Formats: sequence, C-alpha cells, structure tokens
Amino acid sequence: MDLTSHRTPQGRLSLQTIAMPADTNWNGDIFGGWLLSQMDLAGSVCARQRSLGRVATVAIDSMAFLTPVRVGDVISCYSYVVRSGRSSMLIAIEVWETSDRQQPERILTEGRFTYVAIDEQGHPRALPTDIPLTGEAVISGKSG
Ligand SMILES: CC(C)(COP(=O)(O)OP(=O)(O)OC[C@H]1O[C@@H](n2cnc3c(N)ncnc32)[C@H](O)[C@@H]1OP(=O)(O)O)[C@@H](O)C(=O)NCCC(=O)NCCS
Repeated sequence: MDLTSHRTPQGRLSLQTIAMPADTNWNGDIFGGWLLSQMDLAGSVCARQRSLGRVATVAIDSMAFLTPVRVGDVISCYSYVVRSGRSSMLIAIEVWETSDRQQPERILTEGRFTYVAIDEQGHPRALPTDIPLTGEAVISGKSG
C-alpha cells in the first residue's frame, strides 16, 4: 500500500531548484547528500524567518528518503516550525517533486532538523516571542 499517495505538502515553500547531472553519484542517481543539503538550506530559511536572524544547524533528528530523485526533477522544499524552545527550533522539511502540473506531486524525502538562533559571536540567543506564527504548528515546550 502506498502510504504517501494521500499526502499534500505541509508548510511554506522555502526553496525550489532542479536536480542537475552534476548532482548525481557514481551510479548516475541523484546523490542523497545533495538532497540533504537542499533540505538544510530550506530549513535555514524557515528558522531565519522564525528567529529573525542568524541560525546554526545543530542536529538532524530524522531523515527518510521515500522516492528516488531523477535528473530534471523540480525539487520543492516545504518547511514549518514544529516546536520552538528558548533558542532552538525543530523544523519539519518535506521535499516534493513538482515539475509536472498535470500529475500529482510526489513526496521525495522528509526530515526534522534542529536549528539554534545564534548571535554575532556564535552563542545561542533567545528567540523573539512577539512575532506572529500564522500557519505554523508551534508548540512551545512540547514535543511535536
Ligand atoms: C549551536 C551551538 C551554538 C549551541 O551551543 P551550545 O553550547 O550547545 O548551547 P546550549 O547548550 O545552551 O543549547 C542551546 C540550545 O540548543 C539545543 N541543542 C544543543 N544541542 C542540541 C542537539 N544536539 N540537538 C537538539 N538540540 C540541541 C539546546 O537544547 C538548547 O535549546 P533551547 O535554548 O531551546 O533550550 C553550538 O552547539 C554550535 O556552534 N554547534 C555547531 C553548529 C554548526 O557549526 N552547524 C553547522 C554544521 S556544518
């Protein structure tokens, strides 16, 4: 049974790109590390919007490759804040293939990355508490 067929992208579009021949591995398949770095960029966009400033990736909490990526696929990364602490943010990132508007979007990977808001010296800084978080599943202090 295909457990992904009923799904639709969750979160905001944070990054879009195209898988290129240079992104393949020695077998000619898209390299998983390339996809992971796109997800890190997308999560950083979300974390910077939430924290209003500089962030560092501190952990990759989970990562699942669900569907193979092909050269020419349009990669759309969606992300949202699952949980925010004093300085840390758990961000969910989904990667969907969206090149053919006449076909259903295919989910390629999903993961949860933790970012920490940092100051100019690279030390953790408190997240702003007074910004609207419309459309995001922020549950401060609770697991998501
Ligand atoms: C991010 C960094 C500044 C945090 O410093 P630190 O001394 O661990 O700071 P703290 O112990 O005060 O933790 C800060 C927050 O990060 C969270 N945190 C730290 N390590 C974590 C981990 N491995 N997983 C999840 N959360 C983590 C803490 O729970 C805390 O969250 P809170 O403020 O919401 O309660 C430091 O770990 C760092 O610079 N890491 C390298 C980051 C980096 O270079 N990333 C790019 C990799 S190429």
